[in-house]
Amino acid sequence: MTAQPRHFIDLWEIEPAALRAMLDDAKARKAARAGWPKGRADADAPARDHTLAMIFQKNSTRTWFSFDAAIRQLGGASIISTGADMQLGRGETIEDTARVLSRMVDAIMIRADKHADVAAMAAHASVPVINGLSDRGHPCQILADLMTFEAHRGPIAGKTVAWVGDGNNVCSSFIEAATKLGFKLNIASPVVYGPNRADVARAAELQGRVEVTRDPKAAVEGADLVIADTWVSMGDKDGDERLFALKPYRVDAALMGLAASDALFMHCLPAHRGEEVTAEVIDGPQSVIWDEAENRIHAQKSIIAWCLGAI
Ligand code: CP
Ligand code: NVA
Repeated sequence: MTAQPRHFIDLWEIEPAALRAMLDDAKARKAARAGWPKGRADADAPARDHTLAMIFQKNSTRTWFSFDAAIRQLGGASIISTGADMQLGRGETIEDTARVLSRMVDAIMIRADKHADVAAMAAHASVPVINGLSDRGHPCQILADLMTFEAHRGPIAGKTVAWVGDGNNVCSSFIEAATKLGFKLNIASPVVYGPNRADVARAAELQGRVEVTRDPKAAVEGADLVIADTWVSMGDKDGDERLFALKPYRVDAALMGLAASDALFMHCLPAHRGEEVTAEVIDGPQSVIWDEAENRIHAQKSIIAWCLGAI
C-alpha cells in the first residue's frame, strides 16, 4: 500500500512534535541564510527536482509570493494559476483536478473559497496538499506567527495570546495552535461574529485553554501577544454589518496598554488602519508585522519540507 501523503490542511491533524520540528527548521533555515540574496537556494535544497503547484481561488500577496520564493529557496520550482484560469473555473471538479495535478507535480498548495474543496483536493491527490487559506483556517499563517513570537519572546508555551475581533479562519487556526502547543488564547468578539463553535468545543475536549468573551479589555488584560485581523474577510458578504458590530473591537493604544508591558502586536495583513487597528498601534513599537510577513517565507519552506518528508 502506498503511504498517505503528508497534507498540511489544519493543525488539528498535525502532531505537536511535527509542528515544533517545522518551527525549529524554519528558524534554522532563516539563520543559515542570513545576508544571502533572496533567490539563492539553501545549501541542502530539499525540494531539488520537485515542483509545487499553487492554485488561488482568492486574492493573495503574502501567500503567493512567499510560497513561490520558498520553493525556489528549497531548490524546487513552482507552477501557479488562479482557479479562474484553470478548467476549475469552468466547472471541472476538484477531484479530477487533484488526480491530474498529482501526475504532474510533487505537491499542491490551494487557497480555496470553500474548505470542503481543500479537503476534497487532499482526499483525491496522491501528493501532499497544503491549505493556503480557506474559509475555515489559515494554518500556514499561524506557523509564521508563532515563529515570529518565539524569535522575539521565546517559547510560546505558557504565554497568553489575545485575539480581538472577528472569530474568523485565522482565529480558528489559533485555537488549534493554542491546543497543540500549550498557550492560552483569549478571544474577544461580538456574539454574532464569534469563533467557530466546533473548534472551541474541540479545544475544550483536548484541555486547550481557550476563553471566549465579548469584552476586549478582559481578553487583552496581561496578554503577551495581541492579534487583530480584518473585520471583513474574503468571501464575507455582510461587510456593513460587520463594520458596525466590530467597532468596539478596534485595537488602539488604550487597549494595548492593558496587555503586558512587553506585549507584541501582530496582524496577518492586509490591514485596514482605522478599522480593526489604529495606525498608532500597527505602526508603533510593539508591532512586529514586518517580521511576521517575512517569516511567511521561512515558515512556508518548513511546511513544504515537512510535506516532502525532508523533516
Ligand atoms: N496574510 C496573508 O495570507 O496574506 P495574503 O492574503 O496576501 O496572502
Ligand atoms: N481573514 C482574512 C485573512 C487574509 C489573509 C481573510 O480570510 O480574508
